[in-house]
Amino acid sequence: MDSACFRSCWRRGSSVRAFSRRPGMPAPGLTWIQGDLCSPSAVRQALAGADTLLHLATQPLQAGADVALARPLLQALPNSDIQHAIYMSITGLERMQTAPYYREKLDIERRFEDSGVPLTLQRSTQFHEFVMQLVQRLTVSRVTLMPPGVTLQPVEARAVAHHLAQLTVGEPAGRVRDLAGPETATLEHLAREWHLQQGRRPALLEVPLPVPLFRAWKHQAAVSPEAQVVGQSWASWLGDAAPEDVRAMRT
Ligand SMILES: NC(=O)c1ccc[n+]([C@@H]2O[C@H](COP(=O)([O-])OP(=O)(O)OC[C@H]3O[C@@H](n4cnc5c(N)ncnc54)[C@H](OP(=O)(O)O)[C@@H]3O)[C@@H](O)[C@H]2O)c1
Repeated sequence: MDSACFRSCWRRGSSVRAFSRRPGMPAPGLTWIQGDLCSPSAVRQALAGADTLLHLATQPLQAGADVALARPLLQALPNSDIQHAIYMSITGLERMQTAPYYREKLDIERRFEDSGVPLTLQRSTQFHEFVMQLVQRLTVSRVTLMPPGVTLQPVEARAVAHHLAQLTVGEPAGRVRDLAGPETATLEHLAREWHLQQGRRPALLEVPLPVPLFRAWKHQAAVSPEAQVVGQSWASWLGDAAPEDVRAMRT
């Protein structure tokens, strides 16, 4: 999602400074700073002279990593030029606290809120890209293992990125309305559509997998009927409009 965000910010005429551990692609209007958010001095340098912060960095597979990434930022913000911090978070966190990652995200939201920095807190449901990766990982020899009872309302990351870019040129707004895709569906339905898109009969095997995310997503905890609907449905995203890099991910 990061690169879609940068592109959308440039189009709005902003000068963008991206910060990540990888070397970035050169692009007009973009300064890429290679560094680690865990380094307080690198964070201070990256923030110098910037007026808006969009914090997107995450390491969902490493317990405690996101708090470690946010801490140097939160320490540096009071002495920086930042007038507006935007934190990207996830729909339904309060309902999904059985999953360590979601506990951490809620903790970070509260740290930003308590920091006193002028803030916009944007939540969204799971990205189509993430759901596709998940379904691919659950697929072994063309059979998809299916945790029962999971319902999602996936959203196109590019649409969320455009919305975030709009927020960067707006005023701090506190917690704003969640973003979600147009369709609420079981993971089973989403996986079936993915198989059909691959041109094969869906082969699903229901298995109660002991994965915290799947437990957290039960009882429609990850969906939001009140969310602002953005972007394409899962089915149309899977179709012709899917970005090239995602098409390349297909098996
Ligand atoms: N994925 C979803 O379905 C979803 C749904 C709702 C909300 N969100 C939220 O949206 C945000 C972005 O998620 P995403 O899925 O787009 O993430 P992503 O593709 O995994 O990107 C995470 C970024 O964090 C950077 N990063 C990680 N550790 C870093 C470090 N130590 N220092 C500097 N940069 C670091 C990575 O760059 P390097 O590896 O180059 O450092 C990468 O660009 C997160 O806050 C996530 O919780 C995600």
